[in-house]
Amino acid sequence: AKENNVLFVIFGGSGDLAHRKLYPGLFQLYLKGSLDQHFAVIGTARRPWTHDYFRQGIVSQLSKGTDEQKAAFVSHFYYQSHDVKDSEHYVALKKIIDQLDEKYQLNGNRIFYMAMAPDLFGTIAQHLKSENLLSDRGYDRLIIEKPFGHDYPSAHALNQAIIETFDPDQVFRIDHYLGKEMIQNIPYLRFGNPFLSAIWNNKFIDNIQITLAESLGVEERAGYYETAGALRDMVQNHIMQIIAMLTFPKPEHYTDREINQSKAQVFASLPVYSEAEVAEKFVRGQYGAGSDQQQLAYRDEDKTDPQSNVETFVAGEIDLDLPDWQGVPFYVRTGKRLATKNTRIDVVFKAEEHPLFTEQTPTSPVLTIEVEPESGVLLQINGKKIGTSNFIESHQLSDLLDDDQQELVPDAYERLLLEAVLGKQGNFAQWEGMAGSWHFVDAIRAAWAKEFQPEFPNYESGSMGPKAATDLLAKTGRHWLYQG
Ligand code: BG6
Repeated sequence: AKENNVLFVIFGGSGDLAHRKLYPGLFQLYLKGSLDQHFAVIGTARRPWTHDYFRQGIVSQLSKGTDEQKAAFVSHFYYQSHDVKDSEHYVALKKIIDQLDEKYQLNGNRIFYMAMAPDLFGTIAQHLKSENLLSDRGYDRLIIEKPFGHDYPSAHALNQAIIETFDPDQVFRIDHYLGKEMIQNIPYLRFGNPFLSAIWNNKFIDNIQITLAESLGVEERAGYYETAGALRDMVQNHIMQIIAMLTFPKPEHYTDREINQSKAQVFASLPVYSEAEVAEKFVRGQYGAGSDQQQLAYRDEDKTDPQSNVETFVAGEIDLDLPDWQGVPFYVRTGKRLATKNTRIDVVFKAEEHPLFTEQTPTSPVLTIEVEPESGVLLQINGKKIGTSNFIESHQLSDLLDDDQQELVPDAYERLLLEAVLGKQGNFAQWEGMAGSWHFVDAIRAAWAKEFQPEFPNYESGSMGPKAATDLLAKTGRHWLYQG
C-alpha cells in the first residue's frame, strides 16, 4: 500500500477504546504499509505517563507482527498529559504537534480522534481552533465516536458545537458496523447481481429481519448503559445504518457523496410513531437471571440501579416510507444475554402462491447475510425432492468464509481509520441521517416514558428475549427465522 503522511492526536489516549481498537488498527495499517515512516501518534489524557510507559502498554496489546515491527511501530507514539479544559495545555500540545510534524514530515495532515466522553467534544473542538492547533498546510479531520447525544436536541447541540470549528466534510462519525466486511458487502450483492436488483423491492420481498444478538451482559459498562439502553446503544446507530445499506436507492455513480445522499433518503423516510403505534410495533425487555442461576439479572449487576427500567432488549417493526419499500416490515431485534452472539440479516422473499407442479405451498425463499461470527451469504431456494414423487423442498446454497478468508478480513477500526486517512466519507454516519434516526428513537422513548413500570425482568439470560418479541411477528403469521 502507498504510505500516508499523517499525525493522529488521540484524546482519551490512555483509554480502553484506544488500546483495544485504535492502536491495533493502526498497527495493521503499519504492517500493510499504509502507514510507514511518515506518521506519528500523540496520545493525550489526564494521567501523567511517560512516552515509554505509554509505548509499553500499546505493545502489550498488539498481536501479529514481530517484536522488531512492534518496537518500530510504537517508536512513533508520544504521550502528552492534557487537561482538555485548560488553554495552557493546548499551547504545550501545539508545540509537540509542530515538532512531530517537522520530524516525520507529516505535511500538516492532522486527524484528531475523540475517544472519550462526548460532553467534552465541543470544548476540545473550540480550543483546537482558538489555540491554533489546526493545520495551515495539510488537512484537518475530526473523528468522533458515539454516543452522539442522548436524544435529538442533545445530538443537535453536539453537532453545532463541532461544526463551529470543523466543516461537515471534515467530521468523521464512526459507526463500527459500517466497517464490517459483510455490511460493506451489501451494496455489492444488491448492485452486482441484476437478478437480485430486479427483485430487491416490495413486489418480491415479504419482510426483512435484522438480528444483533449478544450473549454477554452489560459487563463493566453499567455506568454508560444505565443512561443509554438498547434502543440508543444499538438501534439508533447500528441497526439504522444496516437498514440504510439494505435499502438506499441506487445512485447514479458509486461515489461517497452520492452514496451518502442516497442513504439520506432512507433516514428521511423513517416514521415517527404515535404512542399507539409504539405499543403495537415495539417491545422492550430486560434480562433476568439465567435458568441455572449462573448469570445475574441486570438489576443485580455491579453499578446498576436495583430498580432500573433500562431496556437490555428491543424488538420492533420499522416501516419505511420509500416507494420500493412500502408494505415491507423491517423486523429488528437486539439484546444482551441472549442465547448466542450473532449478527445476521434475513431477507424473506414472497412465496410462490400457485405452484404448477404440486399441491404443497413452497416455503419462502430467503437470502441470509451472516455478518458475525460467521460471515457469508446463504440462499434458501425451493427445488424438487429427490425421487419419484412430486414434492417440493427447500435447499440451501451456502457461501461462508473459511478460516483462511476470515484471516484476510480487516478489523472494522483498521478499515475505518484508513478510510478517514484517505478522506473517504462513504462509510461514516452523516448528520442528516442521525437526525432522522434520533427523531424515530425519541418518539419510542417518549411513549415508553408514559407507560407504567415495565414488567422487568421479562426474559431469562440465555433465551432469545421476551415472549412479546415472538408475538410481534406471530400476529401477522410470520416468525423469526433465526431462533438462536
Ligand atoms: C457497541 C455497543 O456499539 O456495539 C455495545 O455500545 C455492543 O454495547 C457492541 O456490545 C457490539 O459490537 P460488535 O461488533 O461486537 O457486534
